[in-house]
Amino acid sequence: MLEVEVAGLRLRNPTVLASGVLGVSASLAKRVEEAGAGAFTTKTVTREPRRGYMNPTFVVLEHGYLNAVGLANPGIEHFCQELREMRESLSIPVILSVGGGSAEELVEVARRGVECGAQAVELNVSCPHVRGMGVELGHRADEVAGAVGEIRRLGVPVLVKLSVHHDYLRLAEACLDAGASGFTAINTVRGMAIDIYARKPVLSNVYGGYSGPAIRPIAVRVVYELYEAFPGVPIIGVGGVDGWEAALELILAGASAVGVGSAIAEKDLAIFEEIVRGLKEYMEREGFSSIKELVGLAHRS
Ligand SMILES: Cc1cc2nc3c(=O)[nH]c(=O)nc-3n(C[C@H](O)[C@H](O)[C@H](O)COP(=O)(O)O)c2cc1C
Repeated sequence: MLEVEVAGLRLRNPTVLASGVLGVSASLAKRVEEAGAGAFTTKTVTREPRRGYMNPTFVVLEHGYLNAVGLANPGIEHFCQELREMRESLSIPVILSVGGGSAEELVEVARRGVECGAQAVELNVSCPHVRGMGVELGHRADEVAGAVGEIRRLGVPVLVKLSVHHDYLRLAEACLDAGASGFTAINTVRGMAIDIYARKPVLSNVYGGYSGPAIRPIAVRVVYELYEAFPGVPIIGVGGVDGWEAALELILAGASAVGVGSAIAEKDLAIFEEIVRGLKEYMEREGFSSIKELVGLAHRS
């Protein structure tokens, strides 16, 4: 009833752990699987280790969250061991999120990650708060497409993570021409908060990525547009999923699966079962036998 296929990956249900939230170790990955997720995305990994920014890196706001973690990660060589353990201990697909400042770095990290067991690669060319990476690389569509073409030759699906900071339909088209398997949309939206008593930006990095329920309508719009522009291309919808209704909205817009990030801060891993149960009950009530029937349905009404 809830099984889906996303870019050749078979998911027992359409929920995915979004990148950056708990995706740092094999033991956490196991907990995510046990909690019921359909797939697991790692934290973004780069060639060299990154320490990330100083605190504060995460701020809770009224309708969402602002973070500037700075892509802290141990670097691909160190992360390889975690990937091997994930591959051995998990039965859900492991998607490696890859970051870097150039196409060359993306390809190098992806190649090593696939050697160590990653079943798919997600290119993070959309992180809004790290200089020289993420959004900045995403502006160079030809370079990103070049990386897609090379990584595709490794024989695993390649998803490109998009954000509203690009001409994302143009970037998506260039990546599809180069062989991309699908898209993850969206990454956080660049924002900032100011402490009115300190009279200074709250985040040490000044700018951060805004996530949570406030960005959901933006995610729904981007997924809807991608589905219209590229019918049949798999999309993982991400942005403000905090329950089954929000997940369903993205599915109706055209997502084959949905990523969950910030909501874990509030609801913990129980959010996965909550979404799965809610979707099942909705389908029974409304007379649907497969979740696939709901993908993109809002376009046909
Ligand atoms: C604390 C935090 C860290 C994140 N780190 C990453 C990351 O390393 N790579 C990435 O592609 N996205 C990262 N994201 C973005 C999420 O994967 C997701 O695209 C975004 O938060 C929107 O989903 P949400 O509203 O469910 O959180 C991060 C988000 C948060 C809140």
